Amino acid sequence: MIKANYPVDKFRDITTPFYYYDLEVLRSSLAEINRHIDGQPFEVHYALKANVNPVVLKIIKEAGLGADCVSGGEVQAALNAGIAPSKIVFAGVGKADWEINLGLEHDVFCFNVESIPELEIIDELASAKGKIARVALRINPNVSANTHHYITTGLNENKFGINLTELEKVTQIVRNLQNVKLIGIHFHIGSQITDMTPFQDLCVKVNELQYHFEANGITLENINVGGGLGVNYEHPNHFPIAEYEAYFKVFRDHLTLRPGQTLHFELGRSIVAQCGSLISKVLYVKEGTSKKFVILDAGFTELIRPALYQAYHRVENLSSDLPEEKYDVVGPICESSDVFVKDYLMNQTKRGDIVALRSAGAYGEIMASGYNLRKLPKAYTSDELK
Ligand code: LLP
Repeated sequence: MIKANYPVDKFRDITTPFYYYDLEVLRSSLAEINRHIDGQPFEVHYALKANVNPVVLKIIKEAGLGADCVSGGEVQAALNAGIAPSKIVFAGVGKADWEINLGLEHDVFCFNVESIPELEIIDELASAKGKIARVALRINPNVSANTHHYITTGLNENKFGINLTELEKVTQIVRNLQNVKLIGIHFHIGSQITDMTPFQDLCVKVNELQYHFEANGITLENINVGGGLGVNYEHPNHFPIAEYEAYFKVFRDHLTLRPGQTLHFELGRSIVAQCGSLISKVLYVKEGTSKKFVILDAGFTELIRPALYQAYHRVENLSSDLPEEKYDVVGPICESSDVFVKDYLMNQTKRGDIVALRSAGAYGEIMASGYNLRKLPKAYTSDELK
């Protein structure tokens, strides 16, 4: 089994479980993004929901990316990281008044608006502050992302966005509101998308919609196509960087921007997933009647994706080069769903071995919980453990 080149000796001195971020992988991803958007009217906003580790955020900010936030907490985290308000987009299907006010006070670039009532409240709160809020309408394009149903968002049946049937009505309303300015349209079709066809379908929809707005005499300055680019969870060592070349090419080739328009992206997972691992220690190897269980000191409290979405994370035993055996790798939580992977071939494992659950940089640490009164995991970076 090919494994990540991690400082295992240093790991032994740290209380497990913890998150480890390989910053070289992160920096390479960011360099690759910048290489592909260079010279294009493209702007990438990092989706903070994937990971808000301060060191990670700082590197992302230094690479020049903006922020995509879905809560007041995330807006604050982006500001704390030094990301300019003019690079912050604020999305979310249920923004509370205090969150809208926070966005208004800091003059964030844009509110991605998901419904007519939200539009009216933003107008009202902006009016109370004597401000004009810049808004983009989140349109539900009814494009299938062919991904796990929990992370598909662009279909009519989802709670997100304004349906195409409501578009006429909402463009009328937005015209009449005094304290909002329509500056763009926004989409997001789902997450962990590795086939480029759904993105191409999205481009076709965007092109159609541009005509709708133009026919209504509205010129949009911004098109935001959301995030969703997937990563290779099977082979993180072979594919540490997402398919940015193919991804940006789809939009260059298929989405017709008008002069002066900027195309915005909100990428989360593809930027941070492969730089992160959850490092855990083997507590016990238990012989079942027909199986062997590797019981880790990490469970779904630290990494919930397998339990919640049946997601696969590669598990590497960093302490063993012995021949492979078949195991169920499980956590210590008192729930039968606390299983990372079943019937899994891994180097022969014993108590005390250090394992890495790979590709855990996105929606890993940030989704950790204190269930069973467990402590939230700490995080370390490759720069610290050099
Ligand atoms: N923009 C919007 C409006 C979103 O809803 C999302 C993710 C993103 C951008 C970033 O998408 P990404 O590039 O990361 O795919 N916890 C789940 C993923 C939930 C994604 C939610 N929305 C998981 O662990 O797979």
